[in-house]
Amino acid sequence: MSTGDPALVELIRCEISNHGPVSFAWFMEQVLYHPEHGYYSSDRATIGRRGDYFTNVSVGPVFGELLAAQFAEIWERIGKIDNFLIVEQGAHHGEFARDVLESLQQRFPELFSALRYQIVEPFSALQDRQAQMLQHFRDRVDWQGSLEEIEPFFGVHFSNELLDSMPVHLLVSTGAGWQEKCVSLDGDEFAFVRQPIAEPKLKELAANAPRLPPGHEIEVSLAALDWTEKVAAKLQRGFVLVVDYGFSRDDFYDPQLKTGTLQARARHRRLASPFDNVGNADITVHVNWTNLAEHAGQCGLQVVAFTDQHHFLTGIISKSPALLEKADPKRKRELQALLHPEMLGRTFQVLALTKDVDPAVSLAGFKFARNLRAALGL
Ligand SMILES: C[S@@+](CC[C@H](N)C(=O)[O-])C[C@H]1O[C@@H](n2cnc3c(N)ncnc32)[C@H](O)[C@@H]1O
Repeated sequence: MSTGDPALVELIRCEISNHGPVSFAWFMEQVLYHPEHGYYSSDRATIGRRGDYFTNVSVGPVFGELLAAQFAEIWERIGKIDNFLIVEQGAHHGEFARDVLESLQQRFPELFSALRYQIVEPFSALQDRQAQMLQHFRDRVDWQGSLEEIEPFFGVHFSNELLDSMPVHLLVSTGAGWQEKCVSLDGDEFAFVRQPIAEPKLKELAANAPRLPPGHEIEVSLAALDWTEKVAAKLQRGFVLVVDYGFSRDDFYDPQLKTGTLQARARHRRLASPFDNVGNADITVHVNWTNLAEHAGQCGLQVVAFTDQHHFLTGIISKSPALLEKADPKRKRELQALLHPEMLGRTFQVLALTKDVDPAVSLAGFKFARNLRAALGL
């Protein structure tokens, strides 16, 4: 028997019994985002020490404080406009928004009085949590259910670990081409089956993917490409800052990653299969930064900088050393977790995209960044 949330398992099983194998992207969408039973949408996801996994945000408020300083610099660089919007997507329980707004209120009151903070949140259970967390900032924050619903804006779109939780298609190399790994049933159990690729966009991407040895697996995130198009359409002037874990294209297709980057996690442990504990575990993939950056360029965004989190946060601190003034032992431990190359410092990367921003503008976070084209293999 496949384990997990019984109602969720049953509805996926029914779909497969009635209509045949489903794409892994559809399966992942149900597992994480089914409106009633999904891991995130039902608010079952728990992040942090007592939860399923850590994020930068769950380390403590220092991540939000450092990003607040970066947002303030963006505001200055695009002309201290009075309709500056910070759009956050994937805000979970609103901790990052709270940390940013508290820090801006204390350290950058001029920006604080000029800005609005908008959270893109499709799920009411999470919107309720965020509203509770952000009670003190009710006059600054509003919500939209999707990117399509937000107004064109000036400012910054921010996300931390949004793209790694978007549904992906799984492809497996035949040596001469690619097949899709879909989800079927073996008795009552979920099982992978290989099928010819049906989706036209996926076919096109597969045709352009490098030849890899038979059996090599990769993930393709059509959702991430679609997201890029939507953000590009809404941003009028400003930055998109994407924080996540991933690889450049060359590393993504490294033969050592033969089994791809897909992971299921619960209680800080990696599960043997994405079919274990369905709906009670997270499913993630690494971001293909090169594909994302290339697509962003095709959608009218400029790809301006890319670096790892260690260098990004070090750059911000170097411009705002006052941020470390009240570094008590707890804060020092938080900073170390974010910065240390063997903790989160190298695991995470930051991509900056812009629209209608003078190319000479450079941000503190990218002061120590390597050459963009070399880092992304563009
Ligand atoms: C891995 S969690 C990261 C949460 C938080 N940013 C943090 O760092 O702690 C991913 C979050 O992205 C959200 N998410 C995924 N797709 C989304 C979408 N299209 N719009 C808004 N949120 C989305 C999920 O509901 C979940 O809260």
